[in-house]
Amino acid sequence: MSAGPIIPSGYVSTLFSLEGRVAAVTGGASGLGVAMAAGLAQAGAEIAVLDVREDAAAAAAAAIERDGGRAVPMAVDVTDRTAVDAVADRVVRELGRVDILVNSAGTAFRSPAEDFPEEEFDRIIALNLKGTYLPCQAFGRKLLAAGKGSIVNVASIGGFIAYPHASAYLSSKGGVVQLTRGLALEWVSRGVRVNAIAPTLFRTPLTEKVGKVSSVTSDFIVARLPRERRLGEPHEVVGAAIFLASDASALVTGHTLPVDDGYLIA
Ligand SMILES: NC(=O)c1ccc[n+]([C@@H]2O[C@H](COP(=O)([O-])OP(=O)(O)OC[C@H]3O[C@@H](n4cnc5c(N)ncnc54)[C@H](O)[C@@H]3O)[C@@H](O)[C@H]2O)c1
Repeated sequence: MSAGPIIPSGYVSTLFSLEGRVAAVTGGASGLGVAMAAGLAQAGAEIAVLDVREDAAAAAAAAIERDGGRAVPMAVDVTDRTAVDAVADRVVRELGRVDILVNSAGTAFRSPAEDFPEEEFDRIIALNLKGTYLPCQAFGRKLLAAGKGSIVNVASIGGFIAYPHASAYLSSKGGVVQLTRGLALEWVSRGVRVNAIAPTLFRTPLTEKVGKVSSVTSDFIVARLPRERRLGEPHEVVGAAIFLASDASALVTGHTLPVDDGYLIA
């Protein structure tokens, strides 16, 4: 072995830093998205909080700034290609660059499969799958032009296993897992990494809302939690997001990382 250091001195302290980087976070006004936005900001990134709810995006950006971070709210509907292309241009124009995209906009609808309303199936696929694809395309083009960047999609344990009354959601999240792999393969040689996170059931406004409509899905999931009644709290997804967004995961691409408290083990 040579007499030099095994790894460069100070290497680890730079691994997780996002200083000088710009991150766009869709669905950044609520739940997992706002937690990841706040976490990436604490790691040093400037954040574009992208959300269809303009007021909520503004409130999230203000909260990140109160915490000492830098964040700008931008209203966008991720299912609208023209709007997504425009907001990607706006991020670069106003923040000077883009290095990271986190796709957390998403929703759920509960219904027995045989009665699942077609318009709800279309809405879930449009938001969860196409609403991930379109930002990947629009921001991906900018990352490819720069020759580097990291995309973090939000899939779900439902991208791997099934639960009742969620056929559209399961289809969309299985799609996100495979979309992540497809994009990663196409872009690996051009410096752009594409990964995903597969959360277990987390306590967010979304799960509160759909849990109230019908508890069939959540009861099924909760009954199978490896630790009794242990839901994730939004801050517990932040570490995975920073890992996948940062140079700490430089050789990780096409991967969906479960943040599932062991749910997918058995
Ligand atoms: N909470 C969980 O238990 C859980 C588990 C696995 C996966 N997920 C996934 O995590 C992601 C975030 O979920 P959450 O629980 O934080 O939900 P949430 O409802 O709290 O947040 C979703 C955000 O997306 C925004 N949004 C909705 N439609 C949009 C659109 N067309 N354009 C832009 N923004 C839009 C909403 O305004 C909201 O701010 C979703 O993709 C969800 O499927 C959540």
